[in-house]
Amino acid sequence: MRRHSLQTLKTAKYFPGYAWVSSVRSMSTCSAVLVTRFGGPEVLEYRSAVALPDIGSNEVLVRARAVSVNPLDLRMRAGYGKSLFKPLLPIVLGRDVSGEVSAVGSAVRHLQVGEEVFGALHPTAIRGTYSDYAILAEEQLIRKPASLSHVDAAAIPFAALTAWRALRSAARIQNGQKVLIIGGGGAVGLAATYLAKAVGCHVSVTCGQRTMEWAKEAGAEQVIDYTSEDIKEQLKDRFDAVLDTIGMPETESLGINVLRRGGHYLTLQGEVVSMADKYGLIAGGAAAAAKLVQKQMQYKQSHGIQYWWSVMRTDAEALEEISRLSSEGKLTVPVGKTFTLADAAEAHREREGKKTVGKVVLTVE
Ligand SMILES: NC(=O)c1ccc[n+]([C@@H]2O[C@H](COP(=O)([O-])OP(=O)(O)OC[C@H]3O[C@@H](n4cnc5c(N)ncnc54)[C@H](OP(=O)(O)O)[C@@H]3O)[C@@H](O)[C@H]2O)c1
Repeated sequence: MRRHSLQTLKTAKYFPGYAWVSSVRSMSTCSAVLVTRFGGPEVLEYRSAVALPDIGSNEVLVRARAVSVNPLDLRMRAGYGKSLFKPLLPIVLGRDVSGEVSAVGSAVRHLQVGEEVFGALHPTAIRGTYSDYAILAEEQLIRKPASLSHVDAAAIPFAALTAWRALRSAARIQNGQKVLIIGGGGAVGLAATYLAKAVGCHVSVTCGQRTMEWAKEAGAEQVIDYTSEDIKEQLKDRFDAVLDTIGMPETESLGINVLRRGGHYLTLQGEVVSMADKYGLIAGGAAAAAKLVQKQMQYKQSHGIQYWWSVMRTDAEALEEISRLSSEGKLTVPVGKTFTLADAAEAHREREGKKTVGKVVLTVE
């Protein structure tokens, strides 16, 4: 974190049109990867001397050591969520962070300067974590278990909180229930498997060949290769909950049809954002709400099931449990490759080309 006079920064045009300038009071700066326009990996700009807003009373300034790359980052960079984010450009991508507490707001009660923490921002946060200093609310962070490296810790929270929100908060899975995870070899799918096993569920997953071993290590009893096996043929059970991380028409149809009456289908591919991008925030939001209600009623009538569009949300109880399981080696999200923060564009290319299996993490010097 560096300090400059605000006048110097404006005069030097460090961040023309920068949306946070008005909120900069402390005149501190940081390094960050900015998205100034939507497009391919080339639009990611690593800059130093980027304005760092003051923290609010319930917020924590984290000196980042590692931040992970999520599919959401790639989509936002390409324009997903533009109805919300375009007027706010430049934005900073990134949801997860692991690092040390550098400063705390006056109302922060449980974290202290110098402690190692990890956590994640909500999907709609405008100032993300691709920076050497991230700002999160206290309830979005938890102490990092000493047994986890920053790189391994940064891979976990956004995926695990997404899985928790779907299976624990919405479907309220219980010991002995049967859970199907479609896309069980990805970060969310693996976290979901660990969380469902921790509750005592029987877990079936579909995944690609490259991640079958990880799905078995996470505890899945049944692992089906979606590229070579007939999934419908393999699935003899009726499930209490289906988490569909893929959300295509065929995976939705599969998930709906293997649920028992009263079961929960949860897709991570809700249409609120895409409809808002298409029709505008208000009309799109209304159209998405109408579509969701129509689908919920349709499936309730035809199959007797609960249908959800599930979205990640931070939850203090969830973070506690995620941290505990991670520290005991009962929840992990494998890391495939690391890049430096300055090489974020290269990391996005790697992720987009699907060269790496496992999470891509950016290290912050
Ligand atoms: N709603 C939310 O709040 C929220 C939050 C987090 C993530 N998401 C979304 O959830 C999705 C998964 O996220 P993630 O972080 O887990 O991504 P990820 O780590 O990239 O995992 C995706 C996995 O899906 C597998 N896959 C692709 N097509 C499949 C199919 N037809 N059947 C079964 N598996 C398939 C891929 O395997 P192969 O590469 O071997 O094909 C890969 O292992 C992304 O679209 C992301 O944007 C939504």
